[in-house]
Amino acid sequence: MEKVLLFCDPGIDDSVAIMYALLHPGLDVVGIVTGYGNVTQEQATANAFYLLSLAGRSDIPVYAGAQFPLTGEIATYYPEIHGENGLGPIRPPIDLEGELLNFTDLFDLIISYPNDITIIDVGRLTSLSIAYILGEETMGRVKQVIVMGGAFFVPGNVSPVAEANFIGDPVAANLIMERARPLTVVPLNVTSYSVVTDEHIRAITDRYYNPFTPFIQPIYHYYATAYSALIPGLEGALFHDVLAVMALVHPEMFQMMKRDVSVSIAPLTRGQSVADFRPFAPEGELKIAVDFHYPTFIQSFIQVLRREL
Ligand code: BDR
Ligand code: CA
Repeated sequence: MEKVLLFCDPGIDDSVAIMYALLHPGLDVVGIVTGYGNVTQEQATANAFYLLSLAGRSDIPVYAGAQFPLTGEIATYYPEIHGENGLGPIRPPIDLEGELLNFTDLFDLIISYPNDITIIDVGRLTSLSIAYILGEETMGRVKQVIVMGGAFFVPGNVSPVAEANFIGDPVAANLIMERARPLTVVPLNVTSYSVVTDEHIRAITDRYYNPFTPFIQPIYHYYATAYSALIPGLEGALFHDVLAVMALVHPEMFQMMKRDVSVSIAPLTRGQSVADFRPFAPEGELKIAVDFHYPTFIQSFIQVLRREL
């Protein structure tokens, strides 16, 4: 089983990524770090506790991530896409108890599984960058890091050139591109095609499979309605963050190119991810997903979310 430590900001696609990771038979979720992003850090934490309690996995430790970006700016949230509470129309119970651990307790977790943990970060990169700032030597003991973020060859989803996780904290994103190794980046140029439709959702919810089943349709419906306003003509919604988890369990489904990446902090190009893809450009250290096999994605998405717990 692959040990996974998820940094996230649930958020609808983050929540489905958490469900996918919890349900996948080849994954052992050893911890979750909740940071600001789609919603506040407090809301992201409440949502993570809720999902874990539904799965009967309240034993999985949750660590308190960042509340705002390294730039010091006030974070921008996205209720119009993810809902006021980050789970579309679902309101997690307010009295849900859970012990939120200190961020630096993460280092003990990483040390207890030397070279065994894959970090998958599907949110703003602030918390992960702080982990490198505070404990670079300990972070050298992770097996690998996978990040959902950036955009190459395609427009951004927040600005003409920038994707949400990178523009949300470009300083942190650049730090991770510089420091995290081995690093795989799953950018918008692949996740923009992670389309899930009504028909796929019907296949996942045609009967009760697991405690997440009743939530999938309502959160999908909210998310797909938001997406139809964002991307006219798109039938369905994009589940960016699930694709980052699949980069661990289905590496064969991606085409990767090895390049170094810089993230811009200049005003007009803020959050833009830049790499040299000219044919004669030398290989870099990061793996960047440039294409993927959609049939494998959708088959795994449906199969795993239909698993019984
Ligand atoms: C990314 O931004 C967030 O809003 C999504 O959850 C995903 O991680 C897509 O750009
Ligand atoms: Ca996310």
